[in-house]
Amino acid sequence: MGLRYGTGPEIFTGIHFELAAGSFHFLTGASGAGKSSLLSLLYLAQRPTRGSITLFGKEVTTIHRRQLPALRRRIGVVFQDFRLLDHLTTLDNVALPLRVAGVTEEEIRRHVPELLSWVGLKEQMHAKPPTLSGGQKQRVAIARAVISRPDLLLADEPTGNVDDRIATRLLHLFIELNKLGTTILIATHSESLIQRFRMPRLHLEDGAIQVLDAPQTPSRPSLPGSTLNTAGTLGSPEKGDA
Ligand SMILES: Nc1ncnc2c1ncn2[C@@H]1O[C@H](COP(=O)(O)OP(=O)(O)OP(=O)(O)O)[C@@H](O)[C@H]1O
Ligand SMILES: [Mg+2]
Repeated sequence: MGLRYGTGPEIFTGIHFELAAGSFHFLTGASGAGKSSLLSLLYLAQRPTRGSITLFGKEVTTIHRRQLPALRRRIGVVFQDFRLLDHLTTLDNVALPLRVAGVTEEEIRRHVPELLSWVGLKEQMHAKPPTLSGGQKQRVAIARAVISRPDLLLADEPTGNVDDRIATRLLHLFIELNKLGTTILIATHSESLIQRFRMPRLHLEDGAIQVLDAPQTPSRPSLPGSTLNTAGTLGSPEKGDA
């Protein structure tokens, strides 16, 4: 698969990889290597200039626009620039994917505050994005991406604006989501996360991609007292029928 912007140079010169369903990978590479571009291709925000992409067993490069929303409902995304809705509260931003999927208000009231507490935003539940810090906005974006337990989670530098303690907590949230079956791909520059959470990696360099196995590991770090009640916290069993 290849990609170029306009008449610029090809930023991907024929990359080929597969992510197994249920896998967890970091996506690494220097600034400008193409991490965000690759994620946008997987989210179908743009189409490759050549080649094809298969998602959930379906060739998606040529599908009709009308079919995009149904596919996207199966994907949770954390954008590098968050893309929150400024006129909605934290709670309503996070509830949005559930409302779109037709989840009842009662379920929303049960699950959203619990997840917001987990990501440390209990106090900010009724605040709107313009009044939040960068790290707080980032956590709203993460909560919105995971609340509906998507089949695929794409996160672009999801811990770029938070301290180490919160970054670790967020990684544990992704690990719990992964245990429930979500395939996870996280773009990161953070050497400390890569070292601590020894996941396999997709590494982008010179327009090509390398799949690197997880380094041999001492056991993964665990946070005492921070196990997540996954069944409840990560949203409802009802999903969009996408
Ligand atoms: N909309 C666009 N139009 C033209 N060129 C673009 C566009 N978006 C990205 N590029 C170019 O594509 C290349 C890859 O950019 P991309 O944002 O995917 O990198 P990245 O790995 O996410 O970098 P960072 O770590 O800084 O976020 C860069 O050379 C960039 O200039
Ligand atoms: Mg980027």
